[in-house]
Parts: sequence; structure tokens; C-alpha cells
Amino acid sequence: MNPNHADVFDPTVYLNGEWGPLSEARIPVLDRGFIFGDGVYEVVPLYAQAGGARLPFRLAQHLARLNRSLGKIRIDNPFDDAGWRALIHRAIEANAGPGDALVYIQVTRGVAAKRGHAFPAGITPTVFVMLSQVAYPSDASRAQGAVAVTAEDKRWLHCDIKSISLLGNVLMAQHAAEHDALETIQLRDGLLTEGSSSNVWIVAGGTLLGAPRGPRILEGIRYGLIEELAAEAGIPFEERDVTEAELRAADEVMISSATKEVMPITTLDGKRVGGGRPGPVYAALYDAYQRAKAREFANQASRAG
Ligand code: PDD
Repeated sequence: MNPNHADVFDPTVYLNGEWGPLSEARIPVLDRGFIFGDGVYEVVPLYAQAGGARLPFRLAQHLARLNRSLGKIRIDNPFDDAGWRALIHRAIEANAGPGDALVYIQVTRGVAAKRGHAFPAGITPTVFVMLSQVAYPSDASRAQGAVAVTAEDKRWLHCDIKSISLLGNVLMAQHAAEHDALETIQLRDGLLTEGSSSNVWIVAGGTLLGAPRGPRILEGIRYGLIEELAAEAGIPFEERDVTEAELRAADEVMISSATKEVMPITTLDGKRVGGGRPGPVYAALYDAYQRAKAREFANQASRAG
């Protein structure tokens, strides 16, 4: 434990076959993740249950996306789904405690003998699994809604890969922080893409609109979920290009991510969104989200029992 951070949560983490304290986990500097950002990651939300257990939400979908991200950068998946599930459950058991959490998974191409851009032959991927504590947005912040700012999306055109090369996203998150905003909503060529670490949704004339899946955005695990929730709530949904003018004129704007669930944006670039309060489509989706969690946790409990 770092003596300067004695009060900081020091979870037991998995690194390349070993379990130990985060503060003691080390990787060699020639790891391709460190040198090139050559790797992918996942963030799986965990919810504390009444009995104290923490359960993952939509784990199958997260593992499927991890497999897709690895395939897109040509790293062989080091585990099958059962292997990943076993690691995640061990991370949960090894870090038992109160409150919601998330599991962070990172896989890099591994450690090379020397620095060189092209893939080195015969190296083994680096695998890291960590549980972190998380606080989902409070009821008070949900009731008020959040502030967002916009900026030009200057990232590469493989945003569909959940890459650890996050410099563009980091700069956008910092832009939000410097504007006292929760998120930066990005636009590319006058069209909505996504947040620095979230998908973005607008409501226009009662229809929920989301930017098209494809290389310009990461398809959040909540993308498909929100489609399902909209159908359940009887809200028309269209996956299509959303213009900057539509974003600015929207009745509602909201973001979704593992750590925000679905969160209303009530101020955009200093102007009120719609009536400046969280809207009815947000409220219906948020309620449906909570029901989806309850259903999935009931199913997990019945499978376990
Ligand atoms: N980010 N788009 C980007 C660029 C993201 O980084 C994320 C999630 C999403 C939403 O994906 P999901 O619904 O699967 O969380 C969209 C995670 C939470 C992160 O980087 O911490």
C-alpha cells in the first residue's frame, strides 16, 4: 500500500495469472499498451444487492463486445466467456464490500523485446482485471439534470473499437471538466457522434434519435438496451444522423454509459435544453432501465438458486 494513500481503496486485482494488491501490480515498460496504446478494455457495471452481493449487469453483452474489440485489433481472446466470468466472479469475491462497483478489464498485445510498431511475433497478451468502487449519479443530480458542452470530434475513425488509446476522449473529458460540465458532446462534420465516454440521445417531436452505429461511435452496451427500453415504453426510436441544429433544438438530450446509466442533459453550451428540466422520455427510459436491472438480477438469482 502506498503510504501516502493509506485511505485509498486498494483492490485485489488480476494481472497475468496472479492476484494481488493493485498498489503492487506492475507491468514492464515495453508492454505494448504502455508504449503504443495497443489494447482494448471493458467496463462492466456491478450493482450491490440487498444481501450484499454485487451482480454484473449485461455481462454477456460486455464479453461479446470485448471479443469483437479484440478481433478488430487481431489479438486472440485469451479466455472464453466462461474463463472471463470466472475471473470477474473472483474479482467480486476478493473485493467484497458495500456499494456499487465496476469491473475494468484490459487486454494489451503484450510485452515486446524492443520497441517497433508492427505486431511482434509470439508474444502473450497482458490481461488485467480490477474492481473499482463507483457511485452512480444521485437522485438529486438526476432531478436537476447535467451540464454538457459541445466540441468538434477529432478522433480517428475506428471509434467502434473499445481501444485503450483514449487521448481524444481524455481531451474531451478535460474540456468538460474545464467548463464545469459532466460531458462533452462531440460533432463531426455537423453531425452528432457521442460523448467523451458516453452515447448521446436526443428527443425530437416525441421520437428518440441516436447516431448510427458504425466507425464514428462506440456502440455502448446501453445502445441496444435503450432501443429495447424505448420499445417497452412505447417510445418511437430512430437510428440516424442527427444534425447540430437538431441537437440544439432538441426537446430532450441524454447520455448513457455503464457508470451513468441514462442521464438527462438539461444545459447544453450554456443554454437550456427544452424546458430546462429532465423530460418525460428520459423519465420513462430511466424507469425502464431500473426494471431491466431488476429483471436481470432476478434471473441471475433464480439461475444461481
Ligand atoms: N465508457 N462511447 C464511449 C466513447 C465510451 O467510452 C462509452 C463507455 C460509451 C458507452 O458504452 P457503455 O454503454 O457500454 O458503457 C460510449 C466507459 C464507461 C468508460 O470508458 O469508462
